[in-house]
Amino acid sequence: GAAVEVDISAIKPGEKLTVEWRGKPVWIVRRTPEQVAALSGHDGELADPMSKRTAFPTPEYARNEARSIKPEFMVAVGICSHLGCSPSEKFTAGPQPSLPDDWRGGFLCPCHGSTFDLAGRVFKNKPAPDNLEVPPHMYLSDTKIIIG
Ligand code: FES
Repeated sequence: GAAVEVDISAIKPGEKLTVEWRGKPVWIVRRTPEQVAALSGHDGELADPMSKRTAFPTPEYARNEARSIKPEFMVAVGICSHLGCSPSEKFTAGPQPSLPDDWRGGFLCPCHGSTFDLAGRVFKNKPAPDNLEVPPHMYLSDTKIIIG
């Protein structure tokens, strides 16, 4: 499939841009420093914190806590690894009434309740077996990435 070039300069901290790649929605989230910081400290609650599983092989450069080349930017396919629903973003840090007390923001799949952190890492004991897919991508410049 054709690679997609994306200008990421207009994404504000805490915002998500969705682009289409091979018919799939790819999310680019510009994480705030607080959101980056919130990625630490809950590895024990995650099914695959370092993205070692291979159902959707995670590129080498994204097998890290932030699952990204630059911690500020998340790049992931917005399709739940369970049965393909589209998770919603929950960018608010801290406890929320309808969410687990340890929720630090991330994504929630409305279909069967799988939760993912703000790096797309799935929490344990959820129906989704894997983290969100990270598509192959690279930076062409500080403001431009190419997906595919
Ligand atoms: Fe997402 Fe089932 S499709 S939890």
